[in-house]
This record gives sequence, C-alpha cells and structure tokens, in this order.
Amino acid sequence: MSKVIKIKAEREYDVLMTEDWRHELVEIAKSRTRCAVILTQVMRDQIGNLEADDCEFSYYLIPDGEEGKSPASLLKLWNWLAAGGFTRSDLIVGIGGGAVTDIAGFAAATYLRGIDWVAIPTSVAGAVDAAIGGKTGANLDYGKNMIGSFHSPITVLIDLSWFTTLSDRDFAAGLAEVIKCGFIRDEEILKRIQGQSLASIRSNNELVADLIYRSVAIKASVVGNDFKEGFEREILNYGHTFGHAVEQHSKYSLKHGECVSIGMAYMAHLQHSLGLITDEVHKLHFSILQGIGLPTHYKGGDWLELRAIMSRDKKSRGHSVRFVVISKIGITDRLTDVAQGELLSAYEKVCS
Ligand SMILES: NC(=O)c1ccc[n+]([C@@H]2O[C@H](COP(=O)([O-])OP(=O)(O)OC[C@H]3O[C@@H](n4cnc5c(N)ncnc54)[C@H](O)[C@@H]3O)[C@@H](O)[C@H]2O)c1
Ligand SMILES: [Zn+2]
Repeated sequence: MSKVIKIKAEREYDVLMTEDWRHELVEIAKSRTRCAVILTQVMRDQIGNLEADDCEFSYYLIPDGEEGKSPASLLKLWNWLAAGGFTRSDLIVGIGGGAVTDIAGFAAATYLRGIDWVAIPTSVAGAVDAAIGGKTGANLDYGKNMIGSFHSPITVLIDLSWFTTLSDRDFAAGLAEVIKCGFIRDEEILKRIQGQSLASIRSNNELVADLIYRSVAIKASVVGNDFKEGFEREILNYGHTFGHAVEQHSKYSLKHGECVSIGMAYMAHLQHSLGLITDEVHKLHFSILQGIGLPTHYKGGDWLELRAIMSRDKKSRGHSVRFVVISKIGITDRLTDVAQGELLSAYEKVCS
C-alpha cells in the first residue's frame, strides 16, 4: 500500500512509499520527452529497460560510492547531458544510494541552471536521509560535499524491495540515522528497535516500512521548517559532531552511519556525565546500537586531532564546539562551552 509524506521546501513535493517504483516513475515520465537515468552498473543490470509512452529513457552509468561524486565524474555527467541535447523540460532520475542521488540532484540543480529530477533511493541511508531535504552535492579533492545546492526533487520514490540486496553493513549504517531520529523526535522508533537484532528487523517488512516512514516524516517536518539549514535543521546532527570527526580521522574507512553511531555513544557518555540524561537513556543508546551490531567504540584515535577536527566542523559556530543534545527522548537542545575535561572524559569512555 502506498503512503505519502508531503515536504514543504522551496516548493511542495511528495515522498511516496510505494511497492512499484517503476509504475510510479513511468507515470511521471509520460509527460516528458526525455528522461536521463543516472545509476551505477549494478542498478543498471537490475532494472532492465524502462518504457513510458513517448518518453525516451537514456542511461548514464557512474562509478560506485564517493568516486561517483568526484569533480571528474560530475564534469563527465554534465558533458554527457549537453552532448545528448537534454533540455530544461527533460527529467533527471537518480537511482541508487545517497552518493547517486546527491550527484544526480546536483547535476539537475546546475545543468541549464536547474531542471526537474526524481530521487529513487535504494539504500536505507538514501531513503531516510540523503534523498530527503533537497540538499544535493559533490565532493572536491579537498573534502566531501564541498560543493552543492539546495534543489528539491519533484518526487522521491521509496520502494523497500531495493533493500533486499543491500549488505548488512550498509543496512545497519542506514539504521543509525533512523535511531538518531528516534532520540531527537520519536520514542516509538526506539521502542520498536529495542530488543531487535539486525536480522529480525530485516526480515520484518512491516517494521522496516514503519521505521522508514517515521524517519522520513521527521526529516520532512524538520526541513520544512528550515529548508536552508539555519537553526532547526541542526537537530538532525545529533551524534554527528563527534561522528564527523571520527569519519575524517578514520579516512572514511568507516561508513557514515557507523560514525554517527559512535558519535551518539559519545553523546550518551557526555550527556550522562553532565547530568543531562538519566541512567536509563544512557543505557538505551548502547543497547539499541549494539543490538543491531553498530559500533559504539572508537579505538586508535588521537584526542587532540579529533578535538581539532570537531572545532573545524562546518556546522560548529566560531571556535566553540556546539553539540545537539537531548534533555529527554524527543526533546533537543544545544550545548556549547563544554569544559575540556568533560569532552576528554567522554572520549576516554568511547575508547575503552
Ligand atoms: N544530501 C543529503 O542531505 C545527504 C544526507 C546524508 C548522506 N548524504 C550522502 O549520501 C552518501 C551516503 O549514502 P549511502 O550510504 O547510501 O552511500 P552509497 O550511495 O555510497 O551506497 C553505499 C553502498 O551501497 C550500495 N547500494 C546502494 N543501494 C543498494 C542496493 N539496493 N543493493 C545493493 N547495494 C546497494 C552502493 O552501491 C554502495 O556501494 C554520502 O555520499 C553522503 O554524503 C547526503
Ligand atoms: Zn548523517
């Protein structure tokens, strides 16, 4: 059964949870002359050829993962669109994980100063995070997501059937963002995941659909109130301040969601020692994250280096590191000017 979540950004559009993405895409494409589908080889092999009345589909293969978001890959994609004579009334479709929808969306934002696009996320992280909220982008040689634009798709089509081929590691990493949504806005998410293993979640389609729906609804409501990332959208960064530092420090050998999991573990220690959360909420972080096999420790780091990366984080204001905190489940606040000793002590707990 289809479910719709409305997003109010620079304009209103739907996130459609569907059991037939192909049918929905064909319905959208029927009114267009041409459609540029951007995807990786693996997805290309899976989908076969699309057909919709007089719409002509062309396919563009990009490298998997972050390589697909490189400046070189973006340039090739722009030139392919131009060589193919795509016009402003044509449509771009990104089918893949967050890397693919980010670059497809950024090409759509910039080619001919902006054309319509549709996001079809195939990973959990893509469905609950990357494809929702209108942020598109690419990497530079000097860092991830250094260029980008706010350019909402006309529709997001989420079909859970894609997830069957997703690795356990990517599935769990995506669930870290779902768990984050639970802590910042929706205790029900945590109740549903508590006591579950990754396998028991994966085998329960109804539960997965419910978790994805709830997380999308939270992101939709947050970005609807703060499309261009002022104050409110920052709450989506719970666990991300320390998480981003770990991600960079580990030279991206860990998945983003794994780093967010470690970042939430760090926040659990920090908030607990500052008396912001109860013993119970502190413990809940670990039982839920570890229950589905997500990491809550980061060994081999260097505190001064991690601390320096945190202060450089583009989300931190001025020199003081700013954290999103919860006073209880579902209620967020901000925390700045934390004593160095407290920051270090939370780090030592994450290391032990
Ligand atoms: N725009 C935003 O607001 C936003 C938010 C969060 C993350 N992101 C971006 O999203 C990316 C992370 O997303 P991701 O974790 O989906 O990464 P990803 O796109 O690199 O996908 C992870 C891996 O899963 C594979 N994969 C995806 N779907 C699959 C499927 N159905 N079956 C089998 N394999 C599949 C991919 O090929 C890839 O190897 C990063 O580039 C990040 O910067 C963007
Ligand atoms: Zn994230």
